[in-house]
Amino acid sequence: MAKKTKMWGEDHSKYIWLDGERIPWDQGTVHVTQGHIFAHAIFEGIRAYWNDDREKLFVFRFKEHLDRLYRSIKLMRMKTPYTLEDVWNGSLELCRVHGYREDVYIFPTVYFSPDVYLNKMAGPAHVYVHTFAYGSNLRRKDGARCSVSSWTRISDNTLPARIKCWANYRNSAIAWTDATLKGFDETIMLNNRGKVCEAPGACLMMIQDGVLITPPVTADILVSVTRDTILRIGRDVIGMPVVEREIDRTELYTADEVFLCGTGAEVTPVASIDNYDIGDGSIGPGTQQFREAYNGLIRGIDERFPEWRTDVPLQPA
Ligand SMILES: Cc1ncc(COP(=O)(O)O)c(C=O)c1O
Repeated sequence: MAKKTKMWGEDHSKYIWLDGERIPWDQGTVHVTQGHIFAHAIFEGIRAYWNDDREKLFVFRFKEHLDRLYRSIKLMRMKTPYTLEDVWNGSLELCRVHGYREDVYIFPTVYFSPDVYLNKMAGPAHVYVHTFAYGSNLRRKDGARCSVSSWTRISDNTLPARIKCWANYRNSAIAWTDATLKGFDETIMLNNRGKVCEAPGACLMMIQDGVLITPPVTADILVSVTRDTILRIGRDVIGMPVVEREIDRTELYTADEVFLCGTGAEVTPVASIDNYDIGDGSIGPGTQQFREAYNGLIRGIDERFPEWRTDVPLQPA
């Protein structure tokens, strides 16, 4: 008999939230003939971080993620009776009933009803949320070895990267898999204008002469919540000037520092790009400052920006 493949997080979740109700994990099923509907699904990847000293679980920038989910819903012409508040409350309930006292991922997903077809892809959609324990990788000691991909990032006039839709991740998977098979950890994609865009699952930051530089939101990137956090950390915490502008590929090779950022990537230092060492190939001082500041803010060790952290009401230990 074929070995059953484990799904991401399957071990850790007892319940999911589906269309307004908390149900046991096993009951969240879709028939195999309808699996294709998930290609059109939109989603969010949200993290909650555990603060051991304060015994609190904080969802990081929950509102901003759910705002983006509802922008994706609008752009996809999806119709759902479930509001942002419903998804908010359902997600918090899942965190509460699972009694997490560790870092957690929260995944809200919205998918079309099977009767919505290609000729009129607009209409009713279902919403589910699943959660699972998942730790941070912020302490990694080495930087990622990156390539610049020969695969072009999707553009706003083909498959808008602004929509966090699974279909877009075919483009990510082609580029990232190609890079991995060539021995790199990560890859950086250019857009159809040949300018630096983003990694398959993260945004890109470059530090040059003490200035933090990142491509603008019109560069065919996902409008990343972490990108915004990093820009705010630069301006308001570290005091580093920030510039949003187009970046040429060759600027990357001579940058003082490069790092990737995203909910999943957190702050991922880049050691080399196309075998050019970035700086001396070790984690640069600026990247380290961003990493520490980010770690402090996500866990509420640094109590500034309280509006970024949603305190999960937990059951008593
Ligand atoms: C393609 C892409 N870009 C950027 C990001 C970072 O976005 P965020 O910081 O909102 O997680 C992600 C995260 O999943 C992504 O998939």
